[in-house]
Amino acid sequence: DPSLPKPVKIRLDETDPAVVKLRANDSDTPGTRVRVLGRIHRLRAQKDVIFITLTDGYGYLQCVLTGDLVKTYDAMTLTIGTSMAIHGEMRAVPPKQHAPNDRELHADFFTVIGRAAGDKEAITTRVAPDADPQTLYDNRHLVLRGETASAVMKVRAAVLRAFRKTFEEQRMLEVTPPAMVQTQVEGGSTLFKFDYYGENAYLTQSSQLYLETCLPSLGDVFCVCPSFRAEKSLTRRHLSEYTHIEAELDFITFDDLLDHLEAVVCRVIELTLADPVIAGYIKQLNPDFKPPSRPFKRMKYADAIEWLREHDIPNEEGQPHLFGDDIAEAAERKMTDIINQPIFLTHFPKDIKAFYMQRDPEDPRVTESVDVLMPGVGEIVGGSMRMHDYDELMAAYKHEGMDPAPYYWYTDQRKYGTSPHGGYGLGLERFLAWLCARYTVRECCLYPRFTGRCTP
Ligand code: 4AD
Repeated sequence: DPSLPKPVKIRLDETDPAVVKLRANDSDTPGTRVRVLGRIHRLRAQKDVIFITLTDGYGYLQCVLTGDLVKTYDAMTLTIGTSMAIHGEMRAVPPKQHAPNDRELHADFFTVIGRAAGDKEAITTRVAPDADPQTLYDNRHLVLRGETASAVMKVRAAVLRAFRKTFEEQRMLEVTPPAMVQTQVEGGSTLFKFDYYGENAYLTQSSQLYLETCLPSLGDVFCVCPSFRAEKSLTRRHLSEYTHIEAELDFITFDDLLDHLEAVVCRVIELTLADPVIAGYIKQLNPDFKPPSRPFKRMKYADAIEWLREHDIPNEEGQPHLFGDDIAEAAERKMTDIINQPIFLTHFPKDIKAFYMQRDPEDPRVTESVDVLMPGVGEIVGGSMRMHDYDELMAAYKHEGMDPAPYYWYTDQRKYGTSPHGGYGLGLERFLAWLCARYTVRECCLYPRFTGRCTP
């Protein structure tokens, strides 16, 4: 109808005062005409009225179809997922009724843009949260349309923004090391190997070695890159590809490293929660979340072994833990859940840690290493000081049976002006599993990759 005022296109999340100017100067106040574009998220049809919750990925808007509109073929055949344009008037939500953001759109015209196949049940039962997990993973592209999965993805983006902001505040520079490499960092058993123009190459397990080479010219650095691990076991916290947030700091002590880690984790949480929309998603996903208080509990590996013995938590063989044991996932999680606060677990024995870790000058049996453990998930960060003495590093290659040749560029760091330095890697999906109280890291990435799954 050309006599009507031209409709304004709005985003469904436009509730902040800047945009609600629309409202203030009579656009969103009752009577304002708008045009919205989105897909049907929820649908409730009654005899004379159809309630549609429309979403465009930014928010939700209740739209009400009445009168002749309800009697059209298009209205009677609407399905969840259908994309459409709705024109109409903003109205106040009637008293005692509820709608997202307390607003609703009374339609006077609509057009279907893309019809969704099937009916409401077809999509909702395929992606029901209690469906068989394999079905959910096969339909991840539809699961992502759900309120829970999309909320996690929005928190994920906010957390990434917060990390970048935090690193910027710390005057750290972002770099992007290669994913295709010819060296290992965290042991040969989890390497993904491939043919690189006739040579052996691997998908990177960690960008740490590359970050170390950046320190002399770029200062403290970080990266946000995928890391790859051919993990043999299916656990709820292991992926084959994950987003690895890694940082490397020059001229520091082990205590500096721990203080920095604590500051970064707390600042990231602070920045993330400062956005009220994101804080709302976290509340929805993890109603009991409380930001951790500083200082974090610091516990040496040797004391953790004692603690596990005192609490009768056995090792993987069912025996009491002994110094030198790897603390397995189950035991680690039990301990973290009982202590129920973030823990810096430090000073792991050298024999169960990577070749590059600096020894503790006071006890050469152990390394200046740290795992950050969070309730509900366990380890979310692994970090350490790096061996910075040339001879010591050469001895470490030998001890591990590694050929030092492919590592010449890494070794050169110790040859051309070495320095005490250290860093860490944080698994973004594990951080999110903790923050959003997800059962598994697989829910914390867009399309999870784990043993046996590379689709969609
Ligand atoms: O403890 P990791 O193996 O340490 C390193 O890779 C170091 N080179 C990092 C560094 O110092 N720059 O891994 C670090 C973190 C773990 O704490 C965990 O959060 C995550 O990476 N991680 C995984 N996340 C998901 N799936 C997997 N298979 C993971 N393996 C490690």
